[in-house]
Amino acid sequence: MNVLLTGGTGYIGSHTAVALAESLGALIGEKTHHIVLLDNLCNSEIATVDRIKTIMGANSACALTFIQGDIRDTTLLTQVLSNQQIDAVIHFAGLKAVGESVAQPVEYYANNVQGTISLLQAMQACNVKKMVFSSSATVYGEPQQLPLTETHPTLATNPYGRSKLHIEEILHDVCLSNPEWSVVCLRYFNPVGAHKSGLIGERPSGTPNNLMPYITQVAVGQRSHLNVFGNDYPTPDGTGVRDYIHVVDLAEGHAAALNYATKHAGWQAINLGTGKGCSVLELVHTFETVNNVTVPVQIVNRRAGDIAVCYANTQKALNTLNWSATKNLTDMCQSAWQFEQSMT
Ligand code: NAD
Ligand code: WQD
Repeated sequence: MNVLLTGGTGYIGSHTAVALAESLGALIGEKTHHIVLLDNLCNSEIATVDRIKTIMGANSACALTFIQGDIRDTTLLTQVLSNQQIDAVIHFAGLKAVGESVAQPVEYYANNVQGTISLLQAMQACNVKKMVFSSSATVYGEPQQLPLTETHPTLATNPYGRSKLHIEEILHDVCLSNPEWSVVCLRYFNPVGAHKSGLIGERPSGTPNNLMPYITQVAVGQRSHLNVFGNDYPTPDGTGVRDYIHVVDLAEGHAAALNYATKHAGWQAINLGTGKGCSVLELVHTFETVNNVTVPVQIVNRRAGDIAVCYANTQKALNTLNWSATKNLTDMCQSAWQFEQSMT
């Protein structure tokens, strides 16, 4: 099987390449597979390709190719899909900073939505009709009931989230237009952690927007303390509650979704989370305990746009993909810390 991973050198794409290389042989039973990573490197680095190859090992049943390019380049995408005889696409490429999307909506819609349309045009031209798409729990907006099921109304509150919703809707229309298409939109909750090798993980450029990379940078001494955005939410300790999921579990969810897409047509949206909520302070304390480090915190005002609590109903992923998360908060905190240390 030949699979194209757009955004394949990014945080989730790189872990998925590894998980896919491990699962493809077992799933499909063929001897050789090809994983093609396409990325414009706007938020990742080329060194990741060799790190993925190192983890895969010389005896992997999969070949790995990297192509530097932009998903908005339809001509390039068409060439790649055709020359590499791609069977399916896992579409990670996109910009993902919520605050930046508010300041630069045109860039976000151009990159995420226009980029996806360009990819779909190339897929149509090459008769490739299977896609797994990186969506987000952000499409649910403020939860009306918890845990969040896939039937919860969608309402994005910023351009980043709206770009994900628009793409989901476009993909739905594509599936309605032709019953041969198969699309699985995976709605990720909060991916954290890193591969056990310490070779790949999350490396945000500049000040991290997300909690776990901020915690690791405080622990390593790069930042003095963590600002905790509000302790007056209606939660047990007053801090925000999220469904943190180990990136390796998430990556394995993609392998399961790809397997599903090869066997079933139509459009699906599926949550990838653990189903368990964890507060900011609970994550900080777990990180300190399992890694024997100190993470000073300072309580500051709530961050604009934040919700109090968000966690997944995971039943559909189990029923549809036969997938569920297996790793716990300790695994997430240990691997995130190991990766941070290996990078400094
Ligand atoms: P990431 O930034 O590490 O990876 C995205 C990759 O896409 C990067 O390597 C970047 O260089 C590449 N890219 C961006 N625009 C491109 C373009 N026009 N052409 C080619 N490559 C391009 O982010 P990630 O955390 O790995 O996220 C992957 C996907 O999952 C994104 O679509 C993101 O919106 C989505 N997602 C992420 C999270 C999260 O918390 N990390 C949560 C929900 C959804
Ligand atoms: C988690 C919790 C913060 C940083 C965002 C996007 C979402 C998705 C995942 C892509 C919250 C608190 C954070 C800090 C803090 N991305 N926090 N101090 O907000 O759930 O989701 O990333 O799709 O679209 O919105 O994740 O990691 O930013 O925050 O107190 O320095 O940590 O308030 O309660 P969030 P996060």
